[in-house]
Amino acid sequence: MKFVTEIGYSSPKKTIVRGHDIQDLVKNNTFTEGIFLTWQGRLPNEKERKMLDAILVSCMEHGPNAPTILSSRIVASAGNSLNASVAAGVLSVGEHHGGAIEQCAKLFQEQINQTGKQIVKEFEEKKKRIPGYGHKIYTTDPRTVQLLEIAQKLGFFGKFVKLSLEIEKELETLKGKKLCLNVDGCIAALMSELGFSWQYGKGFFIISRTTGIIAHAVEETVKEKPFRRLDESEVEYIGKK
Ligand SMILES: CC(C)(COP(=O)(O)OP(=O)(O)OC[C@H]1O[C@@H](n2cnc3c(N)ncnc32)[C@H](O)[C@@H]1OP(=O)(O)O)[C@@H](O)C(=O)NCCC(=O)NCCS
Repeated sequence: MKFVTEIGYSSPKKTIVRGHDIQDLVKNNTFTEGIFLTWQGRLPNEKERKMLDAILVSCMEHGPNAPTILSSRIVASAGNSLNASVAAGVLSVGEHHGGAIEQCAKLFQEQINQTGKQIVKEFEEKKKRIPGYGHKIYTTDPRTVQLLEIAQKLGFFGKFVKLSLEIEKELETLKGKKLCLNVDGCIAALMSELGFSWQYGKGFFIISRTTGIIAHAVEETVKEKPFRRLDESEVEYIGKK
């Protein structure tokens, strides 16, 4: 069995990540720089690191209402290990929650030469939702507002961000109501500005949200009575009686 990789290797003498000795990385670099290096094959400059840092903070936690946190707490409550609870949280990342980053970044990267209007029209004709827009509770996603402010300051307000905002405007015109560029869509635009391929999209959300997932799984195990169950009032049986 042979794995051919450009990413890293370890031997009794040395551990190398993308050409860097792990000892040097431990001594000189942050975790965010390590992520950039491992995924892109080079260390980021200061501005890139700051932008990626902000992205990773933006979705680290969103309370038990979010599917990732809810599922991990339920699995922890049933008496499972931390790794099972974390896996449950990560498995609930999907097209509608966190997973939209991937589809949205693919859209931006593959259709960067199209206008916002053309993209909105195309989705409307197919009767499909545009990934990265709309939110269950926000009309303006506060995380997007902050990320865009940082992007502006650091010089990442480029063609992908501009396209993302053009789509938001066209969508509002078409639907007659604001469907905001949500944090997934904003990360999709910014990761594209930073040069990450869309295939890494879900990775940003998974790394970031695992922070909250772990905290909630531990809290559930340590502080709550085991075996959560819905109240009768929260379940409605509509089958045969
Ligand atoms: C997040 C989401 C599930 C919220 O859905 P919701 O609560 O049903 O949305 P709303 O009630 O505000 O709006 C529903 C209406 O807006 C439309 N709409 C919502 N998001 C849309 C989108 N991204 N693109 C196009 N239309 C959208 C729906 O088709 C619906 O239209 P209708 O009333 O004519 O049927 C939804 O916006 C969505 O699927 N977005 C894309 C996936 C995504 O980005 N997920 C990450 C969230 S952080």
